[in-house]
Amino acid sequence: MTTVEHSGRPAGPVDPGRRERELLDTAQRYSFRGRIDTSAFSGPVFASARGSVVTDLHGNDYLDFNSGQMCAALGHNHPRILAAIQEACDTMLHAHSSHFNVKEIELAEKLGRLLPDPLTRSLFGESGADANELALLLARIYTGGREVFSPHVSYHGLSASARSVTFAGWRRGHGPLSGDSYALLAPYCYRCPLAKSFPSCGFACLDASFELVDAQATDQPAAVITEPLFSAGGVIDPPKGWLARLRELCHERGMLLVVDDEQTGLGKLGTMFGFTDEGIVPDIVTLAKHLGGGVGISSVTTTDAIEDKVVETGLTVTRSHSNDPLLCAAGSASIDIVVEEDVPAKARALGDRLREHLTALMERYDLIGDLRGRGMLVGIELVEDRDTKEPAFEAGNEIGRRCFEAGLIFSVRRGGSVLRFVPPASTTLDQIDQGMETLAKVLEEVSTAS
Ligand SMILES: Cc1ncc(COP(=O)(O)O)c(C=O)c1O
Repeated sequence: MTTVEHSGRPAGPVDPGRRERELLDTAQRYSFRGRIDTSAFSGPVFASARGSVVTDLHGNDYLDFNSGQMCAALGHNHPRILAAIQEACDTMLHAHSSHFNVKEIELAEKLGRLLPDPLTRSLFGESGADANELALLLARIYTGGREVFSPHVSYHGLSASARSVTFAGWRRGHGPLSGDSYALLAPYCYRCPLAKSFPSCGFACLDASFELVDAQATDQPAAVITEPLFSAGGVIDPPKGWLARLRELCHERGMLLVVDDEQTGLGKLGTMFGFTDEGIVPDIVTLAKHLGGGVGISSVTTTDAIEDKVVETGLTVTRSHSNDPLLCAAGSASIDIVVEEDVPAKARALGDRLREHLTALMERYDLIGDLRGRGMLVGIELVEDRDTKEPAFEAGNEIGRRCFEAGLIFSVRRGGSVLRFVPPASTTLDQIDQGMETLAKVLEEVSTAS
């Protein structure tokens, strides 16, 4: 008889190849697929992570320039996050969500002090999608309007309402979605949908979009929800002034501006929030991803005036795990790390080094048509020809696959033509160099082969 540890695994040395095959067989029978980047039952199977490196069952290390699912932007298993989780284990993991708990209040205060006035009132959920759903619900109740709008390269999550304002993909075949959700023309300047160029365009995309808003609204439209930089949509960075003009156009119509800063907030773009340098304050801000330092928590923060009016209608917003002490403890530690370890400065330094390498590669390879991004969220767009800008889907997918095999993880977006690099703040400059060497080698192989 085989002795079995209480983990259910056989005792003694385990052959990793065999263990991986067994696990993948088990996954094939019991796990759900339908993931963003792959639906295959194939390895690697990841087993551990620390800082900017993740390790598979075979002991192979990968540089994680995808920050997990973008949630490990402070570094995997940051010791201060682990300590906060441990403290919650020693005190309270879960609480009655109708009563206040210590960790929830502490986190709400930290966030309220970090966000610009009058954004002071927060509540906490478990995923980015649920925070965005709630933000749109608040906007609808506050304005009494229905229609919500989002730029056509946006990603706000895959729950029903969040998917209905996700236009970067992941919709086709999944209708009907929640109604009264429409797309705006995104400020995708590299491929301007109006064939104009900035700044002479004078934000023509916004003027055209709001003609459509006015035409489509049945009464009072409720809100625009936007990322400050469209990450999943292809690292599309709006020109300066776009967000401020968008806010004006919303307010002229009594609509709210919701900024989904879930992926871009808390330092990643080199500023505390993705909208910081725009000199505006949104009506509602959502955060998620590395807010939990690796644990699932999201936040919705708004003003006293909006909170008052919405709560007076009798709206209940809690869910079973809203405001849980475990999640809020991790969130609180995460904010301390962002502030005390100056994550915005780290993001700028990492981004500068990434851009140095990518600029040099762009000079060498015509395949790279555009380089964009802010802070430690950087992307390149690949083209067959720099004049026609025909997207190089196949090359991008091939580069992504080969880099992964060589131990460098990043996302491939827009069907393959955009490569997105998001190293965690824990990454050293040497690790950036190492990752970019891998990319350079693979670019050379792929360019020579074609
Ligand atoms: C900007 C943005 N909003 C919302 C979401 C959805 O978050 P979640 O997957 O936690 O629901 C994501 C996830 O990638 C995101 O990048």
